[in-house]
Amino acid sequence: MASSSSSYNCDKFLLIVLLAISSYSSTTSLAAREYPIPRTNTEFIRTSCSTTTYPKLCYTSLSVHASKIQSSPKLLANTALNVTLSSAKSTSTMMSQLSRGHGLKPREVSAMRDCMEELSDSVDELRKSIDEMGSAGESNFQLMINDVQTWVSAALTDESTCSDGFAGNAMNGNLKIAVRGRIVNVAQLTSNALALINNYASLHD
Ligand SMILES: *[C@@H]1O[C@H](CO)[C@@H](O)[C@H](O)[C@H]1NC(C)=O
Repeated sequence: MASSSSSYNCDKFLLIVLLAISSYSSTTSLAAREYPIPRTNTEFIRTSCSTTTYPKLCYTSLSVHASKIQSSPKLLANTALNVTLSSAKSTSTMMSQLSRGHGLKPREVSAMRDCMEELSDSVDELRKSIDEMGSAGESNFQLMINDVQTWVSAALTDESTCSDGFAGNAMNGNLKIAVRGRIVNVAQLTSNALALINNYASLHD
């Protein structure tokens, strides 16, 4: 009798241990599935970027900010605007340095100046968009997003005009390649930012 009761207790003990282990391991495997947050974040960015016109550029430019973006469409759009602005500003700086350089023909200088003016407008439009997105309350969301969509579209038009100006024969080969490549990059970042803003807008209402 004593032995069967102790074997019963032993079985019961074993059962409790097994339950404890299985619940422990199920919680740890759940945690393990949820734990690699960076991967989850980059998945969100990858999925969102797949709807843009330049998904690879979108992903490489934004995945470095994954920990800040997490899975927020708003932060994704904001970050895309910030990345675009900083690229437009550095391109503008590069162009103004190049245009002051020696050896440029007058028509090259003038093409650079036209382009820099357009780029400078696009920097203003991107800056306004970032300010507006940061300051709007929920009550005037539609108004805010309409403004931002208008300004970012205008920035894209300015950048395209600028890069088209470089496609002609006013420029020598190396200058054309160096500058035009940068501007095209800014325009592609802007196009992607606009797509992510549109995506954020459509999720909101
Ligand atoms: C974008 O830039 C603004 C101004 O520099 C900054 O306040 C904001 O935190 C940035 N947003 C994101 C999502 O990085």
